[in-house]
Amino acid sequence: MDKREKLIHKRELAKLGGGVNRIDAQHNKGKLTARERLHLLLDRGSFEEIDAFVKHRSTDFGMEKIHYPGDGVITGYGTVNGRLIFVFSQDFTVFGGSLSETHAEKICKIMDMAMKNGAPLIGLNDSGGARIQEGVVSLGGYADIFYRNTLASGVVPQISVIMGPCAGGAVYSPAITDFIMMVENSSYMFVTGPNVVKTVTNEEVSSEELGGASVHGSKSGVSHISAINEREAMNNLRKLLSYIPQNCEERPPFMSYTLKDNELREALKNCVPENPNQPYDIKEVIEGIIDEETFFEVHKDFAENIVVGFARLAGRSIGIVANQPAFLAGVLDVKSSQKAARFVRFCDSFNIPLLVLEDVPGFLPGTDQEWNAIITNGAKLLYAFCEATVPRVTVITRKAYGGAYDVMNSKHIGADMNFAWPSAEIAVMGAKGAAEIIFKKEITESGDPEEAWKQKEAEYAGIFANPYRAAERGFIDEVILPEETRIKLIKAFKMLENKVVNLPKKKHGNIPL
Ligand code: HXC
Repeated sequence: MDKREKLIHKRELAKLGGGVNRIDAQHNKGKLTARERLHLLLDRGSFEEIDAFVKHRSTDFGMEKIHYPGDGVITGYGTVNGRLIFVFSQDFTVFGGSLSETHAEKICKIMDMAMKNGAPLIGLNDSGGARIQEGVVSLGGYADIFYRNTLASGVVPQISVIMGPCAGGAVYSPAITDFIMMVENSSYMFVTGPNVVKTVTNEEVSSEELGGASVHGSKSGVSHISAINEREAMNNLRKLLSYIPQNCEERPPFMSYTLKDNELREALKNCVPENPNQPYDIKEVIEGIIDEETFFEVHKDFAENIVVGFARLAGRSIGIVANQPAFLAGVLDVKSSQKAARFVRFCDSFNIPLLVLEDVPGFLPGTDQEWNAIITNGAKLLYAFCEATVPRVTVITRKAYGGAYDVMNSKHIGADMNFAWPSAEIAVMGAKGAAEIIFKKEITESGDPEEAWKQKEAEYAGIFANPYRAAERGFIDEVILPEETRIKLIKAFKMLENKVVNLPKKKHGNIPL
């Protein structure tokens, strides 16, 4: 074999990962290989591999005799929709994708490159965690990655896709990144797997029940986006990247858009029902406002009482946070506050303007909420909005009650433009409850308490169940007709595109975690 042939042979060997049998096993589980995933994700022919010949250095347990070029992870760079990304793809066919010292070094190398070159870092995770044969050096490797994940947070976008069983250390790096995507029925995330759970707590639980995509997408909220298969996961990832900039110094990508003569959206007229207690789907309002079919929802099945996601408005990428009256009346609770706060902070980190659609009856009362720290968690959302310096616009479609009025991007905490529909009700609480408290004496002492209550309720509603008290104070900049919302928002975000706000100098704030 001459020198050229030797290189070609080595390359071919590296492409085989853990070998044909293990590749077949991977396929038999309905999973793609690490290389096939890269092929789906990246623009055709754009991938450049780095460190394909790296080998582990372990000599314990006979490991010196078993080597696979690349050591269980493919790393490199390429483009998605023509834009640079850095990527690693763990190869389950090599020691279960487990993380050795050298495997970690390869990941760290491309993390450093992503930072130096200001481009997103994508991790395709399929790993049994720390390489058990290597002991502490693999733990050190994880820590090296966690440290870089943290330094990169808010500098370049970091997205993790979980595409197999991710256990132990394999879950903590994704947890620090901006978004976690999972694949239904073939990806799992847990600190310890079912066997350890059984030993420690005597609980019998399957991998799916313990840490599958549906559990993390709906119960824990660890995962932001689920896909039905790996192909869909890669499509989701490409789509997500299309809304976000390459790094914190850049603006998000802009799609060219020519304003139409008529940008009124008549469908918005009928979204909010006459009866203020009747639910409606805020996603219809979102669809009515944004560019057609551009809504990319995040955390779809988690804390459904708040809706968050990306969209385009006249070609501009925006982040939307919207109370959902169709679920728990759109109330703010522990999980919805956490969900929205994290989304607001992502958008603010990466210069994505925020649109808030508000219809909120307040914070959810009760022991469950108090004992699970609704105070601290609600404060997260409040803090996240207060701190955000991106353009921020609010539209109150109906209820804006109590503390939730303040929290949901009110003028007072730095929102730039606050609109309200004529159906808006902006008050400390609903008229019924308010009448009961402030007119208690008059109601009980009247000859007909039922009638007196009704009258007082109507009196309170007459004064506050509208947007005009707030507009008189300038807390609402303009009361608008629903059909005007899209054009008003297009103009507002355009007006705000060069907004500059400097926060007081500090090391970093102390968000109530
Ligand atoms: C070395 C590993 C490995 C690991 C799997 N393999 N995990 N090798 N270190 N951590 C190897 C197996 O020996 C096997 O090799 C091949 O990968 C495939 O594994 P299987 O068990 O056959 O596959 P499967 O049945 O699909 O189960 C996958 C799994 C299971 C759920 C991931 O392998 C597993 O539970 N692994 C251990 C998980 C774990 O406890 N990791 C350590 C966490 S501690 P062969 O040669 O047979 O193909 C940790 C600490 C970091 O990560 C903490 C930082 C905060």
